[in-house]
Amino acid sequence: MTYTSSTVLVPDVSAVPRHIAIIMDGNGRWATQRRLPRVAGHSRGVDAVRATVEACARRGVEYLTLFAFSSENWRRPEDEVSFLMRLFVTALEREIGKLHANGIKLRVVGDLSAFDRRIQDLIRRAETKTARNTRLTLTIAANYGGRWDIMQATRKLVDEAALTGRPVEVSEEAFSEHLAMAYAPEPDLFIRTGGEQRVSNFLLWQLAYTEFYFTDTFWPDFDADALNHAIGSYTERERRFGRTSAQLETQSPQSQNADSLSC
Ligand code: FPP
Repeated sequence: MTYTSSTVLVPDVSAVPRHIAIIMDGNGRWATQRRLPRVAGHSRGVDAVRATVEACARRGVEYLTLFAFSSENWRRPEDEVSFLMRLFVTALEREIGKLHANGIKLRVVGDLSAFDRRIQDLIRRAETKTARNTRLTLTIAANYGGRWDIMQATRKLVDEAALTGRPVEVSEEAFSEHLAMAYAPEPDLFIRTGGEQRVSNFLLWQLAYTEFYFTDTFWPDFDADALNHAIGSYTERERRFGRTSAQLETQSPQSQNADSLSC
């Protein structure tokens, strides 16, 4: 299993983040500033997705996770929601060949049962086609919410215990195996564009020791330079995982168990 918990073991830290998670915010404001309909910002947002995937692959990022549609986004006007669905389908149909040719594995996480059957089939086909790729795992979070993820993992844990007749195993390891992104390490770097500084029910469990980077840049303007800037900021951070700076100078990251140390 790839999942390693930053609160159980101190993870290995590399100069380039292994896993970047992004809240792509500011599409609507980008469009409004240009007197365009909000949805024009979403369309340009797809170009920024393409540029960011390419830049991450070039920089050697192993996992890129994008928050495309939250559990709460259903509250938007109906025509904006249906535009976003159509955009997602069109982008997936258009880009999947290129993703595959470039060694990118696609995963989609979230409560997909809310999407119509055609979208669900398209997602499954795209995931199957790219399943063996290893260069970069691109995860699209769609109808995803951090609380939904924690709830669905808990339900699976309880169901599993009921099925086997064994008591529920309440441990980080047993629980995290059921999270939607159990296949990925926790994000090293969280980026939110568009000037807001909140987590908005994204990967609540997994962001425990993630470095946060907020930028005023609207998502449609986010590109390779903006990504490099975010990675540059990350590289300057000291990731202590509960330890002191003095410990970092003398100890290898793998040798410490964060649980036994004070914060
Ligand atoms: C937030 O901006 C953006 C979204 C809710 C949708 C993001 C979706 C895309 C960029 C398309 C993704 C497509 C694929 C294939 C992954 P906002 O509308 O909240 O902007 P605002 O805060 O300025 O109103």
